[in-house]
Amino acid sequence: MANVLEFHGVDQSFGGIKALTDVSFDIPKACITGIIGPNGAGKTTIFNVITGAYRPDRGSVQLNGQEILGLAPYRIARAGISRTFQNIRLFASMTVWEHMLLSQAPRTPMLSRILPSRAVAERGERMMELFGISAVRDRIAVSLPYGVQRKVEMARAYAMEPKLLLLDEPVAGMNHDEAEDLRQTLQGLRDKGLSILIIEHDMRFMMNLCDEMHVMNYGRKIAGGRPAEIQRDPAVIAAYLGEDA
Ligand SMILES: Nc1ncnc2c1ncn2[C@@H]1O[C@H](COP(=O)(O)OP(=O)(O)OP(=O)(O)O)[C@@H](O)[C@H]1O
Ligand SMILES: [Mg+2]
Repeated sequence: MANVLEFHGVDQSFGGIKALTDVSFDIPKACITGIIGPNGAGKTTIFNVITGAYRPDRGSVQLNGQEILGLAPYRIARAGISRTFQNIRLFASMTVWEHMLLSQAPRTPMLSRILPSRAVAERGERMMELFGISAVRDRIAVSLPYGVQRKVEMARAYAMEPKLLLLDEPVAGMNHDEAEDLRQTLQGLRDKGLSILIIEHDMRFMMNLCDEMHVMNYGRKIAGGRPAEIQRDPAVIAAYLGEDA
């Protein structure tokens, strides 16, 4: 099977608001797939459906051919999907290093912080190196600049050894050089086989990063394809690129 995830015919409403209407897309394995679209388009809602935080009215979400819609969030996480949050979620009193350990041992947090196994410690070191946060390992994570906190979140999510990594606006708070480093890191992970789904507003960043993109507007998917195709799509230009033009 060439797709890690198949998201099909999903409707999600909240009272009178239709956050998603008949949204479908596939996430190919070992590719970077992007979701773009204006504020309120339904992008984060897609992540919340995939991770089991929301129960949609209709649709199907399959991970490697297995239906995951309706499973508890912890089971979906264990099946191989990790995410970061648009509104960063880190533990208030923990260092960067403690986040690396905790992410790998969610069932024995206290023990793993005091006595990490060698494998866990080594992976923690690797994660910090990969995302460029080794120098701040002993700092309280929430005291760091937002761009750095985003790297801690990504390192934590990737330490869980996901098959599919979901990133919700990871570049927000990063400067140009940090964003460029992140692009290279993510493309390196993809080249090693990781599948990534990323939401981001920065069009240029997404054009350079993604293998495929899907465009959301008012809860509907209005386009999907390679970045070069998306860039030329009249519906996309009208709905999204038009804002910058
Ligand atoms: N839990 C919820 N309860 C009520 N409405 C919600 C809920 N979650 C999302 N919505 C609504 O669904 C719509 C889509 O929201 P969503 O957060 O998915 O947008 P988004 O594309 O991620 O936007 P942004 O770029 O601003 O992050 C919005 O109208 C939002 O207010
Ligand atoms: Mg969002």
